[in-house]
Amino acid sequence: MGKATNIFFMGKGGVGKSTSAALNSVFLANKGLKVLVVSLDPAHNQCDIFEKDFSDKPVQITPHLSVIEVDQDHWIKQYIKGVHNQIKRTYSYLTAFNLDKYFDVIKYSPGLEEYALILAFKAIQEKFAQLDILVFDMPPTALALKFFYLPTLSLVWIEHLLALRQEIIKKRDLITKIKFIKKEFERDKVLNKINEMKEEYQDLKNIFEDPKQTEVKLVLNPDQLSLAESIRIFDGLKGINVNLNQIINNKVQENSVCTKIEQTFADIPMLNFPYSETPLIGLSTLEHFLEKNGDVVQKQLNMC
Ligand SMILES: Nc1ncnc2c1ncn2[C@@H]1O[C@H](COP(=O)(O)OP(=O)(O)OP(=O)(O)O)[C@@H](O)[C@H]1O
Ligand SMILES: [Mg+2]
Repeated sequence: MGKATNIFFMGKGGVGKSTSAALNSVFLANKGLKVLVVSLDPAHNQCDIFEKDFSDKPVQITPHLSVIEVDQDHWIKQYIKGVHNQIKRTYSYLTAFNLDKYFDVIKYSPGLEEYALILAFKAIQEKFAQLDILVFDMPPTALALKFFYLPTLSLVWIEHLLALRQEIIKKRDLITKIKFIKKEFERDKVLNKINEMKEEYQDLKNIFEDPKQTEVKLVLNPDQLSLAESIRIFDGLKGINVNLNQIINNKVQENSVCTKIEQTFADIPMLNFPYSETPLIGLSTLEHFLEKNGDVVQKQLNMC
């Protein structure tokens, strides 16, 4: 897998994840790092912030900064296709199995979004491995947490599946009276596939748990509701050893009360982004905002 550092922006709806991701990306790109902003939120916002049309191919904003929007439907389709082909390969006797026909219904099955996002993440990591930083503008909290939990939960399932498959191979030996040998395990397509999946999910888990490869920036506003959701995100990430490396306290005004936030996240570096009267839209406005808040930004965004 790639060497680019992944920075994920998470937080409650509307707190400023996309704006903070864009600001952070502009800042890093202007320092000379090669940055790709990846919108993983199906309700893409980067197009409005940079005032450009984006797609699943990178569009260049500055010499070092590009943006890509992940097409969730495309990756759901890829995921279903992958499963379909695997089933066809493994169980070749199942001829009347045509999932394509049912795609319009299947694509709404629960749980597919996080698989699609993980698939997109893996592909982007590989494709853009030569870049320095991949900045991920994340979807709403529930889906973002499912994304991070997917490798850990899948590995639990996979362990059970492995044990079950090994039992099946042993039983098959009894039924067919073929002498049970090590080769039976090596030849078993299903067992091989499960082992392959185990390796893939373990790789992803390692990436998410490695603070050198993965940074999560939690964006919040100085209000009770966004703090409450941020605490849930913090606890959720802690449960799977994902490092939360910065709190971005966004839209801070002169009369904002931030004591509770500071106390709650006392051990995590915090960056205060002031409330901007000018809408933070367009590259030059973002650059101007970064310049205006140079001291704080310089000190804090440099950390990654
Ligand atoms: N520091 C700021 N000062 C003033 N307005 C801001 C600031 N940061 C973000 N905004 C505004 O707040 C609104 C929400 O911002 P943004 O779209 O970045 O949030 P989000 O968390 O990505 O939202 P969503 O959950 O819908 O994806 C936008 O109108 C944006 O311009
Ligand atoms: Mg957004």
